[in-house]
Amino acid sequence: DIIAEVSWLGTPITELKRMPECGGWLCPLRDVPDQHTVMIMTDSLGNGRVPVPDPAQFCDTWDDVHVKMPCSSSNLFPVEDENKSRWELIKETLNKDITNPLELKKAILKYSPAHAKKWDFTAFHLYCTKVLAHDAAEHLFDSLLPDMVQLALRASELCTKPIPLLKRDMSHSITMSQEQVACLLTNAFFCTFPRRSSRRTEYSNYPDINFVKLFEGSASRKIEKLKTLMCYFKHVTEQRPSGLVTFTRKTLDIPIHWKRSKTLLTRLHITFEGTIEADGYGMLQVDFANAFVGGGVTSSGLVQEEIRFLINPELIVSRLFTEALGHQECLIITGTEQFSKYKGYDGTFQWGGSHQDTTPRDDWQRRCTEIVAIDALRFRNFLEQFKPENINRELDKAYCGFARPEGQNTNLAAVATGNWGCGVFGGDTRLKALIQMLAAAEAGRDVAYFTFGDKKLMTDVHNMHSFLTQRNICVGEKVTILLEYFTSVCKRCVSRQPDVSLYSFIYQQVDPSLASYDFNTHSARQ
Ligand code: AR6
Repeated sequence: DIIAEVSWLGTPITELKRMPECGGWLCPLRDVPDQHTVMIMTDSLGNGRVPVPDPAQFCDTWDDVHVKMPCSSSNLFPVEDENKSRWELIKETLNKDITNPLELKKAILKYSPAHAKKWDFTAFHLYCTKVLAHDAAEHLFDSLLPDMVQLALRASELCTKPIPLLKRDMSHSITMSQEQVACLLTNAFFCTFPRRSSRRTEYSNYPDINFVKLFEGSASRKIEKLKTLMCYFKHVTEQRPSGLVTFTRKTLDIPIHWKRSKTLLTRLHITFEGTIEADGYGMLQVDFANAFVGGGVTSSGLVQEEIRFLINPELIVSRLFTEALGHQECLIITGTEQFSKYKGYDGTFQWGGSHQDTTPRDDWQRRCTEIVAIDALRFRNFLEQFKPENINRELDKAYCGFARPEGQNTNLAAVATGNWGCGVFGGDTRLKALIQMLAAAEAGRDVAYFTFGDKKLMTDVHNMHSFLTQRNICVGEKVTILLEYFTSVCKRCVSRQPDVSLYSFIYQQVDPSLASYDFNTHSARQ
């Protein structure tokens, strides 16, 4: 059996496009009101120097369209009927010597709102006392934490421009330096962001940013998360990072009439080996996201999205300003760096040591790593995903993530993806693979699909792709068959699983002579 020996099928991965090779000319970076907020002086870019914040002085805002900064003069703290500056209290508290985990806990609680008093720091305590060797713990309190404090306290010097909230239905980009990101993330570590530690605030539709839940409980996954994040903080405090990162919230402005599309499928490389992040370098890498980007990264989740946010921690800062994604929205993050390696997955996840990222930088000094957060629908009932409105939703979501506006939509890098929505979210891999191939075709991109160990899926999807390509079946026809599957099979189904599989239905619809064909044991090409 040839299939048993191959680890990939379709187009060789070397033939798929990657950045920076396929990238065209990048227009000069500049701040554009209502479109692109650039937090650094653009003429300070390049030559490996650390970018200079723009403007020169802290611009203090406290409103509902910008991030409320811990260093704002409006950030107040009630002390005996009086309102004191909370930032002054934070500075005073963190500047004092912190020599053990209990002191860190006390410090954080000192400037945290009353309801935070029940916060639990067990995981951090275990990390310091049981995980770190004596000299490593000493280094943490003598050197790393003080450096992190200094970086956090430079917030008003580094993040001078108000950071816009990327709200529902807004198309907007934010470009900031890796140093600004690091400053914001140290603040998240010390839990200083105001109005972000309770669900009942104006930020209820935003992900958590303060790291409170990271410190809580005694699960080994928390310890491994701490190791991974501390590795990042060590890197950025020992050597100031000099690049930039862009966060783009994008909404699908022109609706796609999927049934009418005449587009043909693009090329597919499919393999059961490798991962999106390691083997899809330079491609558009899919984050199997939660609508609240980053999902459970600062609490207990530890699957594809959370792992990516841990090894590329700059992604975490998107949680500060990205409101929950709507059905036709995505978040694109360009330029984050990988700081850690990892082993295992979910319950077996382990920090795998520090990682030296050698990804080339583009003209904006961003690493050529483009990640797109798209959240699939969560299905509790298997048949639900075949409903026309749900198929349409997933097609739109994936297309929103993959397509680029006119002028930038030629010569695009391939999409590096896999079982999007098919783990925690319970989707069907064969349906989702097809949906993503259709969306990628419409967006004009090839696909590199990582089945994460599933050989059968590799052959099934490859066979389906070849079958449809050989017969020149366009996107519209395929969508029509998908919708027909719901009416003819799912709607009539009395059990929880359909009695005709999706792929056999497609083969039969396209070629009725295959009606009696047994698709479980043969590929359609034989
Ligand atoms: N490369 C390729 N494939 C992968 C990788 C990888 N690095 N990691 C996992 N897979 P899941 P979902 C495969 O469950 O169902 C998070 O909490 C593997 O087969 O992470 O969309 C988010 O925040 C895995 O089973 O994605 C959301 O809340 C499959 O991808 C929620 O999970 C799906 O991974 C999203 O769940």
